[in-house]
Amino acid sequence: MKKPLHIAITGATGQLGYNTIFRMAAGEAFGLNQPIIFHLCDLPGLESRLEGIAMELEDCCTPLVAGIEYGSDLIKLFHDVDYAVLIGAKPRGPGMERAELLAGNGHIFTVQGKALNRCAKRDAKVLVVGNPCNTNCLVAMHHAPDLNRKNFHALLRLDQNRATALLAKKSKMAVRDIQGVTIWGNHSATQVPDFNHCSVKGQKMTDFIRDEAWLRGEFFEVVQKRGASVINRLGHSSAASAGQAIVDALFALYHPTAKGQWFSSGVCSDHNPYGIEDNLIFGFPCQSQGEGQCEIIPGLEWDFFIKEKMTVTLQELIAERDFCIKEGLIKT
Ligand code: LMR
Repeated sequence: MKKPLHIAITGATGQLGYNTIFRMAAGEAFGLNQPIIFHLCDLPGLESRLEGIAMELEDCCTPLVAGIEYGSDLIKLFHDVDYAVLIGAKPRGPGMERAELLAGNGHIFTVQGKALNRCAKRDAKVLVVGNPCNTNCLVAMHHAPDLNRKNFHALLRLDQNRATALLAKKSKMAVRDIQGVTIWGNHSATQVPDFNHCSVKGQKMTDFIRDEAWLRGEFFEVVQKRGASVINRLGHSSAASAGQAIVDALFALYHPTAKGQWFSSGVCSDHNPYGIEDNLIFGFPCQSQGEGQCEIIPGLEWDFFIKEKMTVTLQELIAERDFCIKEGLIKT
C-alpha cells in the first residue's frame, strides 16, 4: 500500500458527490493499492448528511479508506490536500445555458481558490466540476496564485465519453475500440468534439463512418447539447454519467497515459502549442506522466470545419472571462 492521498470533495452530500465518493473508495480513480483520506465538504447545515456519508464509507469496510474528515470549514478541510474535486455549485435547470450560472457560482470558486491557496499542498491537483466548469476553474486558479496553474482542470471527460459512446454506436463497435476523441474549448454548447484524429481498432474512424454529414451535423449537435437533453428528460442534471466522468478524469490524471493515446481536459492555455490565447481554461488533448503530471500534446491538425468551430468556443470563453473581470471575480 502507498502513502494515503488526501482528497477533498466539495458538494459531497449532493447526488453527484454520492455517486463519486464510493467509487473512489473502491479504487476506481486512484487504483487498488492507493489509500485515501477523504475530506468531505459541504455547506453549513449539512453536517448530518455528511456524517451519514462518513458512516456509509466506514460500513463499506473497504481497505482503501484510510481516514474521513468532514464539515464546512474549507480552511480546515483543504489542509494539505493532494487533490480537490470541486463539485459543489448551483446546477442548471431546464432551459438554461451553463454560463448563466457564472454570476451565482463564480464567488463560490473565489472562496475555494483562496482556501486552496492558503492550505492545500503546493502541488495539489484541482478538478472543477461545478458549471460553467472552465470559467469557474479559471476563477479558482486566479485566486490560488501559489499553486501551479498546470494543475487546474475543468471536467471535459463527460463530453469525451459522450462523443466516444456515440461514435461507437454509429460504427457498431465497442467503446473500448474507439480512441482519440478530442474535446476542444468550453464544456458548453460551443464545445468542439473533434473526430478527425479518432481511430477504431487502430484504423481511421472515417473508414468506419463514411457519413460526413452525420459527423459534422448530428454528431456535433448531440454531443454539444447532451447535458441539456438529459436535464430536459430527468428534470435535473446528469449525475451518474458525470460521476463516471469524474472517476475517469481522475484515473487518467493519476495514471500514465498509454503511448499514442490522450484524453481531453480543460487546462490552462498559457503557452499552449495551438496558439489559443493565454489565461483561459480550454479543452485540449492531454497526456499524463502519472500522479497528475499532465501536459498538452501538440501536433493535432485542424481542418477548416474544426477551425471555424474553434473560433466560436474561444470567443465564448473570452466573453465568460470578460464577465468575470467586470464582476470583480478576476482581476487583470
Ligand atoms: C452535463 O454536461 O451533463 C453537466 O455539465 C450538467 C449540465 O449542466 O449540463
